[in-house]
Amino acid sequence: MAKTKSKYVCQNCGYESAGYLGRCPDCGAWSSFVEETSATETKSLVTPPDKNPPMRLSQIEMNTEIRIETGISEFDRVLGGGIVQGSLVLLAGDPGIGKSTILLQTSGQLCTAGKKVLYVSAEESASQIKLRAERLDIHSDNLYIYPQTNFELIQKHIEEMSPDLVIIDSIQAIYTTQIQSSAGSVSQIRECCNALMNIAKTNNISIIVIGHVTKEGNIAGPKVLEHMVDTVIQFEGDKYKSYRVLRSIKNRFGNTSEVGIFEMGTKGLIEILNPSQAFLKEYSQTQTPGSTIIVTNEGTRPLLVEIQALVGTTPYPAPRRVSNGVDFSRVLQILAVLEKRIGLNLSKQDVYVNVIGGIDVTEPAADLGIALAIITCVRDVTLDSQTAIVGEIGLSGEIRGVNNIERRITEAQKLGFKRIIIPEANEIQEKVKGIEVIKVKRIVEAISKAVAS
Ligand code: TYD
Ligand code: MG
Repeated sequence: MAKTKSKYVCQNCGYESAGYLGRCPDCGAWSSFVEETSATETKSLVTPPDKNPPMRLSQIEMNTEIRIETGISEFDRVLGGGIVQGSLVLLAGDPGIGKSTILLQTSGQLCTAGKKVLYVSAEESASQIKLRAERLDIHSDNLYIYPQTNFELIQKHIEEMSPDLVIIDSIQAIYTTQIQSSAGSVSQIRECCNALMNIAKTNNISIIVIGHVTKEGNIAGPKVLEHMVDTVIQFEGDKYKSYRVLRSIKNRFGNTSEVGIFEMGTKGLIEILNPSQAFLKEYSQTQTPGSTIIVTNEGTRPLLVEIQALVGTTPYPAPRRVSNGVDFSRVLQILAVLEKRIGLNLSKQDVYVNVIGGIDVTEPAADLGIALAIITCVRDVTLDSQTAIVGEIGLSGEIRGVNNIERRITEAQKLGFKRIIIPEANEIQEKVKGIEVIKVKRIVEAISKAVAS
């Protein structure tokens, strides 16, 4: 009889310990240890057959991967041009963000194109999925819905059916009988994911698994999941707003900086093919103090978004700083530079910075736009509504160069902007017609040129 062994596993990062620990020494999470028991197997230590001896690089044959295009171009782009056959993809995101919706839509598209899809629903009943499919107008008979949580049964049906694509909704809800711990625990997730990877590779079937994200923003349970799969894509956005951003975080078969943008409507997710236009929909041409337009770079695509700032005398003993959609510590750094380099006194002022549209702007190229939004609000002046802003701010108040400047200028020009303020350090190889390019070296110069123009 197999002996059972007990261990304590951190449910955040997968760290294992022989005894209970209050705090994980690896990831620092508190009270994250759970006891898990597993049957100790006696592994056979037989040398495997030597099928793949070392080869010279030139002897290796390249087989180009076959991709299944889903027909949802934003989804395909994030994956690097479609789902690679035989790959395991993890789709992560907050509960309620639309993971089940996008994968049901993808399944619907593929089935209409004649592919066979097995949708394993471990969280919702078949009739709940049917209800969603009705809403999304999906009727194909190539789509098989299988409400099941047991991994062994799922495996049996995958192997019997041999579909083109399998969806597991979600990895946290399925369990294998090989392990005694409950579904959603690190050991279960790791074991099921490993087994799914095996199925994908041996049968050359693509599998997409859904994974929930924890409060802290990590992919629930283990980081181990991220390491095991071929591709990790994350669905982000504000649940209360309609825009959703699909971002690739890891991709063994493509670029990782790509994003796809969708809008949640009453009949599912709609692709936004021209996101800048969508984000500027509510931008008023009559400018108000505290508002700027920046050109941020998302993957290979530039995006125009509006930044708003509000600065006012604080009623509190310590002034408040709030940022929405931009990195909080970045805003603090910009405020520190503004205080030191241009003498803006904000010690008694509350500062709020907001990105309109519900997307997160993560790159430093947004710095100058944020700074100008704050400055125009403090001084109660307006920027020209036809001017877009790009530039990173250094600690001494200098404006530093950004990448892909030509693409950003072209996007601003396409959307009808007449001027763009960019860092002096950026060299432009090809001049873009129809837009005036203003180069600035320091923050003071940027203010005088932006406000005067
Ligand atoms: P869902 O895909 O169930 O999210 P997840 O699987 O990530 O938990 O979608 C959740 C939300 O989307 C839900 O609140 C309802 C909303 N929704 C729409 O607004 N329109 C639609 O057409 C559908 C199907 C869902
Ligand atoms: Mg769901």
